[in-house]
Amino acid sequence: MRVKISKDWELPESSVTPESDYLSRRQVVKALGLAAASPLLLPSLADAATQGFPTKLNKKYLAPEGRKLTNPRLVISYNNFYEFSTQKDEPRILANRGWKTEPWTLEVGGLVENPLKLDVNALCKEMGLEMRIYRFRCVEAWSMVIPWDGFPLHKLIKKAKPTSKAKFVKFTTFMDKKAGPGFENYPYYNWPYTEGLRMDEAMHELSFLAVGIYGRPMPNQNGAPIRLVVPWKYGFKSIKSIVKIEFTDKQPNTLWNAAAPKEYGFYSNVNPEVPHPRWSQARERVIGAGVLADRIPTLPFNGYEKEVAPLYEGMDLKKHF
Ligand code: MTE
Repeated sequence: MRVKISKDWELPESSVTPESDYLSRRQVVKALGLAAASPLLLPSLADAATQGFPTKLNKKYLAPEGRKLTNPRLVISYNNFYEFSTQKDEPRILANRGWKTEPWTLEVGGLVENPLKLDVNALCKEMGLEMRIYRFRCVEAWSMVIPWDGFPLHKLIKKAKPTSKAKFVKFTTFMDKKAGPGFENYPYYNWPYTEGLRMDEAMHELSFLAVGIYGRPMPNQNGAPIRLVVPWKYGFKSIKSIVKIEFTDKQPNTLWNAAAPKEYGFYSNVNPEVPHPRWSQARERVIGAGVLADRIPTLPFNGYEKEVAPLYEGMDLKKHF
Protein backbone atom coordinates (compact mmCIF):
# COMPACT_ATOMS: atom_id res chain seq x y z
CA MET A 1 0.00 0.00 0.00
CA ARG A 2 1.30 3.46 -0.82
CA VAL A 3 1.27 5.93 2.01
CA LYS A 4 0.73 9.57 1.23
CA ILE A 5 2.94 11.92 3.21
CA SER A 6 2.34 15.64 3.08
CA LYS A 7 4.86 17.80 1.30
CA ASP A 8 7.16 19.49 3.74
CA TRP A 9 8.72 18.71 7.10
CA GLU A 10 9.84 22.14 8.06
CA LEU A 11 8.92 23.32 11.54
CA PRO A 12 10.85 26.58 11.85
CA GLU A 13 11.24 28.36 15.13
CA SER A 14 9.48 31.36 13.61
CA SER A 15 6.31 29.31 13.21
CA VAL A 16 5.91 29.18 16.96
CA THR A 17 3.15 31.44 18.18
CA PRO A 18 1.79 31.99 21.69
CA GLU A 19 -0.34 28.89 21.17
CA SER A 20 2.79 27.16 20.04
CA ASP A 21 2.42 23.97 22.03
CA TYR A 22 -0.84 23.23 20.43
CA LEU A 23 -0.12 24.56 16.98
CA SER A 24 3.29 23.01 16.66
CA ARG A 25 2.00 19.65 17.69
CA ARG A 26 -0.73 20.07 15.14
CA GLN A 27 1.91 20.77 12.53
CA VAL A 28 3.85 17.68 13.43
CA VAL A 29 0.71 15.61 13.35
CA LYS A 30 -0.25 17.17 10.05
CA ALA A 31 3.20 16.52 8.69
CA LEU A 32 2.77 12.94 9.66
CA GLY A 33 -0.21 12.78 7.35
CA LEU A 34 -2.21 11.11 10.08
CA ALA A 35 -5.32 10.67 8.01
CA ALA A 36 -3.41 8.78 5.39
CA ALA A 37 -0.90 7.02 7.61
CA SER A 38 -1.10 3.30 7.44
CA PRO A 39 -0.48 1.21 10.56
CA LEU A 40 2.51 -0.06 8.63
CA LEU A 41 4.08 3.37 8.85
CA LEU A 42 3.80 4.04 12.58
CA PRO A 43 1.95 2.31 15.42
CA SER A 44 -1.50 3.78 15.95
CA LEU A 45 -2.45 6.20 18.70
CA ALA A 46 -5.32 3.95 19.68
CA ASP A 47 -2.78 1.49 21.08
CA ALA A 48 -1.09 4.18 23.09
CA ALA A 49 -3.62 5.80 25.37
CA THR A 50 -2.29 3.81 28.32
CA GLN A 51 1.16 5.31 27.79
CA GLY A 52 0.02 8.91 27.94
CA PHE A 53 -0.12 9.80 24.25
CA PRO A 54 -0.91 12.22 22.64
CA THR A 55 2.04 14.35 23.67
CA LYS A 56 2.58 18.11 23.69
CA LEU A 57 5.58 19.70 22.02
CA ASN A 58 8.01 21.23 24.51
CA LYS A 59 8.79 24.51 22.77
CA LYS A 60 12.24 24.72 24.35
CA TYR A 61 13.29 22.01 21.90
CA LEU A 62 12.36 22.94 18.36
CA ALA A 63 13.72 22.18 14.91
CA PRO A 64 17.03 24.00 14.46
CA GLU A 65 16.89 27.12 12.34
CA GLY A 66 16.76 26.27 8.66
CA ARG A 67 16.50 22.51 9.18
CA LYS A 68 13.51 20.41 8.20
CA LEU A 69 12.05 17.52 10.10
CA THR A 70 13.14 14.28 8.47
CA ASN A 71 10.37 12.55 6.59
CA PRO A 72 9.07 9.88 9.01
CA ARG A 73 9.06 7.38 6.20
CA LEU A 74 12.86 7.65 6.19
CA VAL A 75 13.16 7.64 9.98
CA ILE A 76 11.41 4.26 10.12
CA SER A 77 13.11 2.64 7.16
CA TYR A 78 16.75 3.76 7.37
CA ASN A 79 17.84 2.19 10.63
CA ASN A 80 20.82 0.90 12.54
CA PHE A 81 19.66 -1.98 14.71
CA TYR A 82 22.32 -4.67 14.59
CA GLU A 83 20.33 -7.11 16.72
CA PHE A 84 18.28 -7.51 13.53
CA SER A 85 20.55 -6.60 10.62
CA THR A 86 23.48 -4.43 9.61
CA GLN A 87 21.54 -3.43 6.47
CA LYS A 88 19.68 -0.14 6.91
CA ASP A 89 16.47 -1.30 5.23
CA GLU A 90 16.12 -4.62 7.07
CA PRO A 91 15.30 -3.77 10.73
CA ARG A 92 11.94 -2.40 9.56
CA ILE A 93 11.04 -5.86 8.29
CA LEU A 94 12.86 -8.13 10.72
CA ALA A 95 11.88 -6.27 13.92
CA ASN A 96 8.21 -6.60 12.97
CA ARG A 97 8.11 -10.35 12.48
CA GLY A 98 6.54 -11.29 15.77
CA TRP A 99 9.00 -9.58 18.15
CA LYS A 100 6.86 -8.50 21.12
CA THR A 101 7.74 -5.17 22.73
CA GLU A 102 4.67 -4.98 24.94
CA PRO A 103 4.40 -5.66 27.84
CA TRP A 104 8.01 -4.72 28.63
CA THR A 105 9.79 -4.58 31.96
CA LEU A 106 12.60 -2.12 32.62
CA GLU A 107 14.91 -2.89 35.52
CA VAL A 108 16.76 -0.12 37.35
CA GLY A 109 19.42 -1.16 39.82
CA GLY A 110 23.06 -1.15 40.90
CA LEU A 111 24.14 1.62 43.26
CA VAL A 112 20.66 2.91 44.10
CA GLU A 113 18.55 3.25 47.23
CA ASN A 114 15.41 2.34 45.36
CA PRO A 115 15.84 -0.55 42.88
CA LEU A 116 12.92 -0.75 40.45
CA LYS A 117 11.19 -3.16 38.12
CA LEU A 118 8.88 -1.13 35.97
CA ASP A 119 6.21 -1.79 33.39
CA VAL A 120 7.07 0.67 30.61
CA ASN A 121 3.47 1.70 29.91
CA ALA A 122 2.89 2.46 33.59
CA LEU A 123 6.20 4.32 33.73
CA CYS A 124 5.15 6.54 30.80
CA LYS A 125 1.93 7.39 32.55
CA GLU A 126 3.74 8.19 35.77
CA MET A 127 6.49 10.32 34.18
CA GLY A 128 4.24 12.16 31.72
CA LEU A 129 5.28 12.46 28.09
CA GLU A 130 6.40 15.43 26.04
CA MET A 131 7.67 15.89 22.50
CA ARG A 132 11.10 17.32 21.75
CA ILE A 133 12.67 17.94 18.37
CA TYR A 134 16.36 17.05 18.35
CA ARG A 135 19.09 16.85 15.77
CA PHE A 136 20.36 13.29 15.39
CA ARG A 137 23.90 12.74 14.07
CA CYS A 138 25.18 9.24 13.34
CA VAL A 139 28.90 8.49 13.58
CA GLU A 140 28.59 7.39 9.92
CA ALA A 141 28.28 11.11 9.01
CA TRP A 142 24.58 11.28 8.21
CA SER A 143 21.93 13.20 10.14
CA MET A 144 18.21 13.59 10.70
CA VAL A 145 15.93 15.93 12.68
CA ILE A 146 13.40 13.93 14.69
CA PRO A 147 10.48 14.73 17.00
CA TRP A 148 10.84 12.30 19.92
CA ASP A 149 8.17 11.57 22.54
CA GLY A 150 9.27 10.65 26.04
CA PHE A 151 10.60 12.12 29.26
CA PRO A 152 13.96 13.32 30.56
CA LEU A 153 16.18 10.56 31.93
CA HIS A 154 16.81 12.53 35.14
CA LYS A 155 13.18 11.99 36.17
CA LEU A 156 13.73 8.24 36.29
CA ILE A 157 17.14 8.63 37.94
CA LYS A 158 15.59 10.69 40.73
CA LYS A 159 13.02 7.96 41.30
CA ALA A 160 15.75 5.32 41.66
CA LYS A 161 17.83 7.52 44.03
CA PRO A 162 21.42 6.62 43.14
CA THR A 163 23.84 6.57 46.08
CA SER A 164 26.82 8.94 46.27
CA LYS A 165 29.04 6.10 44.96
CA ALA A 166 27.26 6.09 41.58
CA LYS A 167 29.49 7.75 38.98
CA PHE A 168 28.26 6.18 35.73
CA VAL A 169 25.09 4.75 34.25
CA LYS A 170 25.10 1.58 32.18
CA PHE A 171 22.29 0.71 29.75
CA THR A 172 21.58 -2.76 28.35
CA THR A 173 19.41 -3.80 25.38
CA PHE A 174 17.22 -6.93 25.22
CA MET A 175 18.83 -10.16 24.08
CA ASP A 176 16.48 -12.74 22.58
CA LYS A 177 18.13 -14.89 19.96
CA LYS A 178 14.77 -16.04 18.64
CA ALA A 179 13.69 -12.44 17.98
CA GLY A 180 16.89 -10.97 16.58
CA PRO A 181 18.87 -12.79 13.88
CA GLY A 182 21.79 -10.41 14.47
CA PHE A 183 22.89 -12.14 17.69
CA GLU A 184 23.86 -15.24 15.71
CA ASN A 185 24.68 -13.60 12.39
CA TYR A 186 27.26 -11.27 13.97
CA PRO A 187 28.76 -13.36 16.79
CA TYR A 188 31.88 -11.16 16.97
CA TYR A 189 29.95 -8.38 18.77
CA ASN A 190 29.90 -8.42 22.53
CA TRP A 191 26.10 -8.91 22.94
CA PRO A 192 23.92 -7.66 24.49
CA TYR A 193 24.32 -4.09 23.20
CA THR A 194 25.42 -1.89 26.08
CA GLU A 195 26.06 1.82 26.42
CA GLY A 196 27.04 4.20 29.16
CA LEU A 197 27.02 7.79 30.33
CA ARG A 198 28.79 9.64 33.07
CA MET A 199 26.38 10.52 35.87
CA ASP A 200 26.34 14.26 35.09
CA GLU A 201 25.69 13.51 31.41
CA ALA A 202 22.79 11.25 32.36
CA MET A 203 21.37 13.95 34.65
CA HIS A 204 21.61 16.62 31.94
CA GLU A 205 18.29 18.09 30.89
CA LEU A 206 18.85 17.04 27.24
CA SER A 207 19.28 13.30 27.98
CA PHE A 208 15.95 11.79 27.05
CA LEU A 209 14.19 8.44 27.27
CA ALA A 210 12.06 8.19 24.14
CA VAL A 211 9.00 5.99 23.80
CA GLY A 212 7.73 7.45 20.55
CA ILE A 213 8.46 9.48 17.44
CA TYR A 214 6.21 11.94 15.63
CA GLY A 215 3.59 11.69 18.37
CA ARG A 216 3.18 7.95 17.92
CA PRO A 217 4.49 4.98 19.93
CA MET A 218 8.02 3.92 19.05
CA PRO A 219 8.19 1.61 16.04
CA ASN A 220 10.06 -1.61 16.84
CA GLN A 221 12.85 -0.82 14.39
CA ASN A 222 13.52 2.51 16.14
CA GLY A 223 13.98 0.87 19.54
CA ALA A 224 10.56 0.08 21.02
CA PRO A 225 9.37 0.43 23.60
CA ILE A 226 11.99 2.66 25.26
CA ARG A 227 15.34 4.00 24.08
CA LEU A 228 17.84 6.62 25.02
CA VAL A 229 18.40 9.81 23.00
CA VAL A 230 21.53 11.85 23.75
CA PRO A 231 21.51 14.48 21.00
CA TRP A 232 25.03 15.89 21.48
CA LYS A 233 26.63 12.45 21.04
CA TYR A 234 26.94 10.19 18.03
CA GLY A 235 23.81 8.12 17.46
CA PHE A 236 25.26 4.82 18.65
CA LYS A 237 25.19 6.14 22.23
CA SER A 238 21.38 6.34 21.89
CA ILE A 239 20.79 2.70 22.82
CA LYS A 240 17.51 1.08 21.78
CA SER A 241 15.03 -1.28 23.45
CA ILE A 242 16.49 -0.93 26.94
CA VAL A 243 15.86 -3.67 29.52
CA LYS A 244 18.26 -2.59 32.24
CA ILE A 245 19.70 0.63 33.67
CA GLU A 246 22.45 0.21 36.27
CA PHE A 247 24.37 2.73 38.35
CA THR A 248 28.05 1.91 38.80
CA ASP A 249 31.23 3.38 40.22
CA LYS A 250 33.29 2.41 37.15
CA GLN A 251 33.11 3.47 33.52
CA PRO A 252 31.05 0.69 31.90
CA ASN A 253 32.19 -1.37 28.95
CA THR A 254 30.12 -0.66 25.89
CA LEU A 255 29.59 -2.76 22.78
CA TRP A 256 31.14 -0.30 20.33
CA ASN A 257 33.98 0.76 22.58
CA ALA A 258 34.90 -2.92 23.06
CA ALA A 259 34.59 -3.67 19.33
CA ALA A 260 36.83 -0.80 18.14
CA PRO A 261 38.16 1.44 20.92
CA LYS A 262 40.15 3.64 18.53
CA GLU A 263 37.03 4.35 16.47
CA TYR A 264 34.28 4.60 19.08
CA GLY A 265 35.32 6.35 22.28
CA PHE A 266 33.29 6.20 25.47
CA TYR A 267 32.35 9.88 25.19
CA SER A 268 31.69 10.10 21.45
CA ASN A 269 30.55 13.70 21.59
CA VAL A 270 29.86 14.99 18.09
CA ASN A 271 33.06 16.79 17.14
CA PRO A 272 33.84 18.00 13.61
CA GLU A 273 37.51 18.36 14.59
CA VAL A 274 38.07 14.75 15.54
CA PRO A 275 37.90 12.59 12.41
CA HIS A 276 36.86 8.97 12.62
CA PRO A 277 40.01 7.00 11.68
CA ARG A 278 38.33 6.07 8.38
CA TRP A 279 36.44 9.26 7.46
CA SER A 280 36.06 12.96 8.27
CA GLN A 281 33.44 14.15 10.74
CA ALA A 282 33.57 17.76 9.48
CA ARG A 283 30.39 17.49 7.39
CA GLU A 284 27.23 15.42 7.33
CA ARG A 285 24.79 14.08 4.76
CA VAL A 286 21.23 15.16 5.56
CA ILE A 287 18.95 12.17 5.11
CA GLY A 288 16.12 13.12 2.75
CA ALA A 289 17.95 16.09 1.23
CA GLY A 290 18.58 14.19 -2.00
CA VAL A 291 21.69 12.62 -3.46
CA LEU A 292 22.82 15.84 -5.11
CA ALA A 293 22.55 17.99 -1.99
CA ASP A 294 25.77 19.28 -0.45
CA ARG A 295 26.82 17.91 2.89
CA ILE A 296 26.30 20.48 5.64
CA PRO A 297 28.93 21.40 8.25
CA THR A 298 28.77 19.38 11.45
CA LEU A 299 28.50 21.50 14.58
CA PRO A 300 30.44 20.92 17.81
CA PHE A 301 28.28 18.86 20.18
CA ASN A 302 25.83 18.60 17.28
CA GLY A 303 24.61 22.15 17.88
CA TYR A 304 24.17 21.75 21.65
CA GLU A 305 27.51 23.29 22.64
CA LYS A 306 26.03 26.06 24.77
CA GLU A 307 24.09 23.54 26.83
CA VAL A 308 26.67 20.79 27.30
CA ALA A 309 30.19 22.20 26.87
CA PRO A 310 30.38 22.98 30.64
CA LEU A 311 30.20 19.21 31.31
CA TYR A 312 33.63 18.81 29.73
CA GLU A 313 35.47 21.87 31.04
CA GLY A 314 39.17 21.17 31.44
CA MET A 315 38.98 17.88 29.51
CA ASP A 316 41.08 17.28 26.40
CA LEU A 317 38.29 16.29 24.00
CA LYS A 318 40.76 15.04 21.40
CA LYS A 319 42.14 12.55 23.90
CA HIS A 320 38.81 11.71 25.55
CA PHE A 321 36.92 11.43 22.28
N1 MTE B 1 20.82 0.29 19.90
C1 MTE B 1 20.86 -1.05 19.78
N2 MTE B 1 20.39 -1.80 20.77
N3 MTE B 1 21.35 -1.64 18.66
C2 MTE B 1 21.88 -0.92 17.62
O1 MTE B 1 22.35 -1.51 16.64
N4 MTE B 1 22.40 1.30 16.76
C3 MTE B 1 22.79 2.65 17.17
C4 MTE B 1 21.71 3.32 18.00
N5 MTE B 1 21.22 2.43 19.02
C5 MTE B 1 21.88 0.50 17.73
C6 MTE B 1 21.30 1.08 18.89
C7 MTE B 1 23.14 3.50 16.03
S1 MTE B 1 24.64 3.20 15.29
C8 MTE B 1 22.34 4.51 15.62
S2 MTE B 1 22.85 5.62 14.44
C9 MTE B 1 20.98 4.68 16.15
O2 MTE B 1 20.65 3.70 17.14
C10 MTE B 1 20.00 4.57 15.02
O3 MTE B 1 18.70 4.84 15.45
P1 MTE B 1 17.51 4.82 14.39
O4 MTE B 1 17.55 3.51 13.66
O5 MTE B 1 16.26 5.00 15.19
O6 MTE B 1 17.80 5.98 13.46
